Amino acid sequence: MKQYPNLCSPIQIGRFTYRNRIEAAPTIFASLALVPPISDRVIRMTEDRAKGGSASVISGEIPVNFDDSLRPVVVGEGKFLSIVIDYHNYTDENFKIFQKNAQSIKKHGAVAIAELSHFGEEKPLLDDGILPLGPVSYTKPDGTPVKGFDKADMDKVANDFATAAVYMQKAGFDGVFVHCGHGWLIGQFLSLRNNRRTDEYGGSIQNRARFPLQILERIRERCGPDFLIEIRLSGEENMPNGITIDETVEFCRMLEGRGLVDLIHISAGHYYSPARSHEFSTIFLPHGLNADYAAAVKKAVSIPVAVVGGITSAEVAEQIIAEGKADIVSMGRQMIADPDFALKACSGRGDEIRECLRCCICYPGPYGEHATDPDSQYLPGLGSCTINPYNVNSFSHHKVLPEDMPEPEGSRRVLIIGGGPGGMQAAIDAADRGHQVTLVDDHERLGGILRLTDFDYFKRDLFNFKELLVREIAKRKSIEVRLNTTGTPELIREINPDALVIAIGAEPMILPLPGIDRTMNAIDTYFLPDEAIGKKVVMLGGGLVGCEVALELAHKGHEVMVVEMKERLVAEAIGIHRTALLDKMDELGIQSTVRATALEVRENGVLVRDGEGMEKTIPADTVVNCLGMKARRAEVQMLREAAGDIPVFEIGDCVRAAKVGEAVQEGYTAALSII
Ligand SMILES: Cc1cc2nc3c(=O)[nH]c(=O)nc-3n(C[C@H](O)[C@H](O)[C@H](O)COP(=O)(O)O)c2cc1C
Ligand code: SF4
Repeated sequence: MKQYPNLCSPIQIGRFTYRNRIEAAPTIFASLALVPPISDRVIRMTEDRAKGGSASVISGEIPVNFDDSLRPVVVGEGKFLSIVIDYHNYTDENFKIFQKNAQSIKKHGAVAIAELSHFGEEKPLLDDGILPLGPVSYTKPDGTPVKGFDKADMDKVANDFATAAVYMQKAGFDGVFVHCGHGWLIGQFLSLRNNRRTDEYGGSIQNRARFPLQILERIRERCGPDFLIEIRLSGEENMPNGITIDETVEFCRMLEGRGLVDLIHISAGHYYSPARSHEFSTIFLPHGLNADYAAAVKKAVSIPVAVVGGITSAEVAEQIIAEGKADIVSMGRQMIADPDFALKACSGRGDEIRECLRCCICYPGPYGEHATDPDSQYLPGLGSCTINPYNVNSFSHHKVLPEDMPEPEGSRRVLIIGGGPGGMQAAIDAADRGHQVTLVDDHERLGGILRLTDFDYFKRDLFNFKELLVREIAKRKSIEVRLNTTGTPELIREINPDALVIAIGAEPMILPLPGIDRTMNAIDTYFLPDEAIGKKVVMLGGGLVGCEVALELAHKGHEVMVVEMKERLVAEAIGIHRTALLDKMDELGIQSTVRATALEVRENGVLVRDGEGMEKTIPADTVVNCLGMKARRAEVQMLREAAGDIPVFEIGDCVRAAKVGEAVQEGYTAALSII
């Protein structure tokens, strides 16, 4: 049983004793709790993190005003709702919702914190005629005019922060989390990128800090010394002319000894460029990537320091605390993936943690050139999670919760055919609902399509998830696993189940292209010895599979060319992952051609017609078919017929080529539907 003594030890922050070093970072706009249809789910998201043992839980961004900061507009009750909070009204419904939010966190022993933000020049231009306010007057490249702050604006906005903080204090929050990073207002003042003022608010970091300090002073004055103030800073903005770690350290030194801030939270990056600036880390970056920035701050000040960014395991979290790089580890996506992180880590159940994949399905950015295609199947909605089907969030289509489903009337015999992610998730949940499960798979080990992660250098996070599912299956005595066993009508008759789950996956699509039989299937490249793949490789298809397999082959030393018919490579991928993947492909020297149609696979390469209608042969020793997968519908039909009139559930790839998240979700939903 692994212990994490540093991570699980208490610490004093301001007047609060944190029960451990784990903070749940903000991952949802708390003001969305004011929208009736989603209110309970928004509140429950943060409550789950408190219940899951986190020492402190942050309710995400709440604008400090609804004129020059932001007026969130959401679809609710079938119409557009504009969220506005009257920060002087302590009796209305809005106030009661924030009270409920704070209380739901505190009742589980966690410190409840509300995040306050102002978008500054990033406020979208609405038809209210109010211009975005920024450090300087100018016109943004997209034509939006920005009005530079004058002293009266500064006074008003500092007051707005303080008034909103008082409101949150009265609502029962223990503190506020002031967003000073990621390119929002306070970050704009701190950064030379935006702050081009020539008066006492611009120039040196001391001058740039003047207005941010004014805001913090105003909050402290109005909320008193016992109220917790945490600030979020981008250690480095990682943008041209952006904030550097030396400037961040300098700013933190200015806070020292003034009693303004109880906890400094170090993130990184800028919202304009979430992947490249490391606002969100991807699978291509190390875990805990901001720890050295935090360490630099911690060395310079005595104020406690928290760090966020790619912390997804108890091991990494423990190491950061043990090495003294930070006092608190903060987790964003990890809390979506598993809100019970702290409970598990601190009770010897660390191996049960669902470690976030950093797949970024829960966060759609970025915008512009690297944006995901609007019709992409990879856009399930902000906050939904690939690996956590139990996730309660307001936007996800993943809405089925255990309490929404009737309890099973008895223990059923459940046969699950296919041991991929969906089949394994179904087995776990069916067993936990009291059923007797037989899980069959025709391979020598569980994992289905995820078996390829055993060999993929870049998919370690996904490998960990597969291993977690395998471990969870092994722990459950009511699951019998039969490997090297094909699901057949005979097997169904032999087991005679009360319910059948079909999770047999998909197979490669073979298009009627001359010479297609000369190609190798994308997935097979993982399982064949590397000598079976030639030096020069052409990938037929530049979607997610084509590009990710290309990366793996390039990593192994092959010279890879990707041929794609569409305008853009991997256009269906979620934006942050897409940017990072394309950058990695560039780094590994992968060539590509878009708007190119493959005409024939020949002995020595692929004949293509390019966007200008010119035909040419791209030389290749091996051609890899990445043209897509198709569901194994004929086998599904055969199994369904053999099952007779018992309940049958088809899940994942065998319904249509799906994603891991869909397979997991459907496995879970199927298990919950067996009653
Ligand atoms: C779905 C989602 C919503 C987020 N919402 C907020 C927010 O309201 N305020 C904020 O400051 N950060 C927000 N973040 C950023 C996280 O707090 C965190 O900085 C980021 O996820 C990187 O940390 P991680 O690697 O632990 O996920 C959000 C992140 C996600 C994934
Ligand atoms: S969707 Fe992906 S990145 Fe987001 S929390 Fe889940 S596993 Fe992590």
